[in-house]
Amino acid sequence: MNNKGNIILTGFMGTGKSSVGQKVAQRLNKRFVDTDVVIATETGKTIAAIFAEQGEAHFRALERAAIARVSEAQDIVVATGGGAMVNEDNARRLKESGMVICLTAAPDVIWARVQNNADRPLLQGENPLDKIRLLLASRAEAYAKADLTIDTSTLSIDEVVETICSQVKTSEKP
Ligand code: S3P
Repeated sequence: MNNKGNIILTGFMGTGKSSVGQKVAQRLNKRFVDTDVVIATETGKTIAAIFAEQGEAHFRALERAAIARVSEAQDIVVATGGGAMVNEDNARRLKESGMVICLTAAPDVIWARVQNNADRPLLQGENPLDKIRLLLASRAEAYAKADLTIDTSTLSIDEVVETICSQVKTSEKP
């Protein structure tokens, strides 16, 4: 296991980062931190409200600050927002703090999972499936920086948790 021993779940919206991260943390007896929750708690606003009132650039600045802080902690499980790895500083800090695992899924699966959730400002408006495809393509290079990628399209939360826990165990062997 590298560096601070953190396990970082990243990847697109609707791939299960937060649900999986919580369960992985329980299983491994580690603290769980969701950077979007950190941002929402500190600002007292939902992510959608931050986007609407202050714009995406402001959200990205808050996200960079949250990731810089979280990456200083040790032995925690982190779930990031879907766009976090696009910023080079974020990607470097996260990679230096532990094992970065990217969760992915097919565009139609992503849409089915997120369509009833109003807190996804980047997918509001016309043609959300096209937006998902475009964003996935534009982020492919950033997501490829992860140490491991798991396609969650046909997996249950528990199956993803199981895959991660066995990978972590393997990486801890001398
Ligand atoms: C974003 C994903 C969201 C949230 C914000 C931006 C993105 O997090 O950080 O709406 O750029 O993909 P989730 O991936 O947890 O939905």
